[in-house]
Amino acid sequence: MNFNHLFSSIRGRAGMLLPAGVTAAAAVFAGIGDARSEEEITPKDVYYFACALCHQTGLNAAPRYGDRKAWSARIEQGRETMYQNTIKGMGAMPPKGGKPNLTEEQVKMAVDYMVTAVGGWPEEN
Ligand code: HEC
Repeated sequence: MNFNHLFSSIRGRAGMLLPAGVTAAAAVFAGIGDARSEEEITPKDVYYFACALCHQTGLNAAPRYGDRKAWSARIEQGRETMYQNTIKGMGAMPPKGGKPNLTEEQVKMAVDYMVTAVGGWPEEN
């Protein structure tokens, strides 16, 4: 499956839901690969840039942001398992959510961002 195509075809619709976040994150990530900008990127930026497309909408049955029921059994697998599944890809989710330029740390930040939203994994990091 061509996820770039998926992304551009969905963006029109998702844009109705997330215009501000997506625009801000796109601006932040314009500088990706530039070491200077890396520490300014927040978990929320990564989420809107790389994850919200599916996780905000439930696209392809992705567990939705803030949906405790959808996340609880997954969270029980443990933090490291969820990190690895996200980095390597799982089911309809491509590796790193389809954004190979993300560092593993950035992917983990975004996982934490979604898990925290449903009350999981307090700041043991
Ligand atoms: C193309 C859509 C898509 C994108 C983009 C996407 N995901 Fe997912 N994600 C999914 C789907 C679908 C699942 C459920 C996979 C399954 O259970 O087979 C999932 C599952 C997950 C899980 C649960 C993994 C587990 O072990 O149960 C985590 C954590 C996750 N995604 C994090 C992220 C993060 C972080 C990003 C952004 C960097 C991201 N996803 C981007 C579709 C996506």
